[in-house]
Amino acid sequence: MDVVDEKYADRFDGKDDRGDYALVGLYQAALDPRPNQRYWIQCPDGTFAIPPGNTFPAEIADGVNAIPQSSEDRVWRWSFDSYLKKKDLIVFKKTAKSPLQTPDRSQSSWNVYTKYYLEDRLEEGIRPRDFLDDITNDRGTADLKPLGLNDVFTFPKPVDLLTRIMTWIADPAALCVDFFAGSGTMGQAVFEINQLDGGHRRFVLVQLPEPTENQQFPTIAEITKERLRRAIRKIKKENQMFPGDLGFRVFKLDSSNIRSWDPNPENLEQSIRAHIEHIKMDRTEDDILYELLIKLGLDLCVPIEKRLIAGKTVHSIGDGVLMVCLAETITREEVEPFAQGLVVWHKELAPTGETTCIFRDSGFASDVVKTNLAAVLEQSGIRNLRSL
Ligand SMILES: C[S@@+](CC[C@H](N)C(=O)[O-])C[C@H]1O[C@@H](n2cnc3c(N)ncnc32)[C@H](O)[C@@H]1O
Repeated sequence: MDVVDEKYADRFDGKDDRGDYALVGLYQAALDPRPNQRYWIQCPDGTFAIPPGNTFPAEIADGVNAIPQSSEDRVWRWSFDSYLKKKDLIVFKKTAKSPLQTPDRSQSSWNVYTKYYLEDRLEEGIRPRDFLDDITNDRGTADLKPLGLNDVFTFPKPVDLLTRIMTWIADPAALCVDFFAGSGTMGQAVFEINQLDGGHRRFVLVQLPEPTENQQFPTIAEITKERLRRAIRKIKKENQMFPGDLGFRVFKLDSSNIRSWDPNPENLEQSIRAHIEHIKMDRTEDDILYELLIKLGLDLCVPIEKRLIAGKTVHSIGDGVLMVCLAETITREEVEPFAQGLVVWHKELAPTGETTCIFRDSGFASDVVKTNLAAVLEQSGIRNLRSL
């Protein structure tokens, strides 16, 4: 189903085999004169019409052009080339109020229009035309009520306001970004409109952990997350069959997980030793994993699976496109069963592209262990090995 503003769709009141269309005058008074846009058009009764002005084509025939000589020589919206090619879109209407003139400078009894199809507009995206006066701000608070959050955030935007704005953008896979997410209305609106039209829009919400006076939600960012969770629960309850995605991941901005190389020139040996483990101590595997995704340019929403192989946690990202093990130790005894297990899982995943495997360099008990692992993986076609 295409989503379209009802008021906007009502304007397309004509219908033919191709669909709903609106008529737009081919002559528009506001157009600036252009060389190819002042020509005769032959009307259904055989008479000719042209926009107002003083310069006329040398010959009275359909599509014959005159170059405007002053701003008084008005023009059609289309060049004569377009007119001759797209005559099937032209509609004539008899009128006593025509702005057009005839070869003898009298008022034409016709006006000329072009058909403007709703379908084409939907493809291009819809330009908002009206001042929105049917969605009032108090609806934003009313939207938070069924989620039990109406007392925790002042002046949230109404969900309908955002779904309406989304209908102006034709792309059903649009990425909707709100840098000032507040109560997270945009996220709920994306879930709801996807549910309505089967789209798969996504959202990025950004919110500072701005302190609140609410003990339950000490920052605005906490409200944003909770609103999304409750909106998801509500949608799932109301529409248990909804097959679309109703999830989100939360990231907090931080410095890199990898310590920068900042040696002490007075004691290089100590600096080198201190850098053997260059991943910051307080970081989790997830932290490192997501930094890898960013560095490799992978989508932060790719599916991630975890499996224990020979006692080591391995992550498969994007169905095996990337396989990461950040184990802190892989010994000589462990490496063989570990490598074999990795190969088995890789075969199961059967990734479409080449796989990159990433390990923690300091995790290998020795270079031999690392070489052995590389050899087993290579036999199975995994040649892209990297260590952190
Ligand atoms: C008016 S609220 C947005 C309301 C939201 N549309 C809703 O429906 O709930 C604006 C938000 O932007 C955040 N904000 C304000 N200044 C900011 C800045 N300079 N950078 C990032 N966020 C900011 C505030 O924390 C506040 O939550």
